Amino acid sequence: MITILTTLDSLKNHRHAQQGTIGFVPTMGALHAGHARLMHQAKHDCDHVIASIFVNPKQFGANEDLEKYPRTFEEDCALLDECRVDAVFAPTIEAFYPEGFATEVRTLGLDHVLCGAHRAGHFTGVTTVVARLFAYVRPDRAYFGEKDFQQLSIIRRMNEDFPLAGAIIGVPTMREADGLAMSSRNRYLSEAQRATAAIIPRILRTITQTATPSTLDAMLAQARITLEEAGFVLDYLEVRDADTLSMSTDVSHARIFIAARLGTTRLIDNMPFVQ
Ligand code: PAF
Repeated sequence: MITILTTLDSLKNHRHAQQGTIGFVPTMGALHAGHARLMHQAKHDCDHVIASIFVNPKQFGANEDLEKYPRTFEEDCALLDECRVDAVFAPTIEAFYPEGFATEVRTLGLDHVLCGAHRAGHFTGVTTVVARLFAYVRPDRAYFGEKDFQQLSIIRRMNEDFPLAGAIIGVPTMREADGLAMSSRNRYLSEAQRATAAIIPRILRTITQTATPSTLDAMLAQARITLEEAGFVLDYLEVRDADTLSMSTDVSHARIFIAARLGTTRLIDNMPFVQ
């Protein structure tokens, strides 16, 4: 059975009692097959795997979905057990951010574009929680999905500057049969919205498989029209350099990034270009 840890002291003690390499998979729960893939990768690479489940209030804006974010702790523990994860850290907000907590960790440079331009303070919330988790777990390897590619880039930068984890491992996005990227937020979609959502990976695939530097702009313009006609409200559909996240038309080293809302659900996805 998985060990459940709820305080920072118990996390620290558990970590120090382990021999061998430690893999760490931070999550906000509502786990799905995409998370299971991270757990399996960690289990394959490391002697001991710790996951965390914490819906971090610092990364939600005032008008975002903190209250209604899905919380499925029992099912999550069953999935972690199946993946043979050794321990899960699942603190309350008060246990994780005790009274007096006053520090923010912010990684400059990559956080003002894409989701950073639309979700003020979001990435500071992410780097603050991840730095604090890393400080207690001190993992040899920490695992993050490529679905949140900007988050992964920012955490890599943070860990270069403050190397609290031995290595940051990015894991490819898991997709449903129709290509939709797996996400805890997909469960907000109605049946009709769920069918419409599959337009996103279809469009990203077409562009990444067929665009050239000279056709890219026109393809992006057409894609924006198609998405809007299907009922999406776009935050962005952009092609950016895979390392610097600056705007790019050099498809040999770029990814396409999208964030779009269907009703009240915000979906994100990204893909590399096919060479
Ligand atoms: O990707 C997530 O689920 C969260 O942003 C993370 C990394 C667990 C931090 O709260």
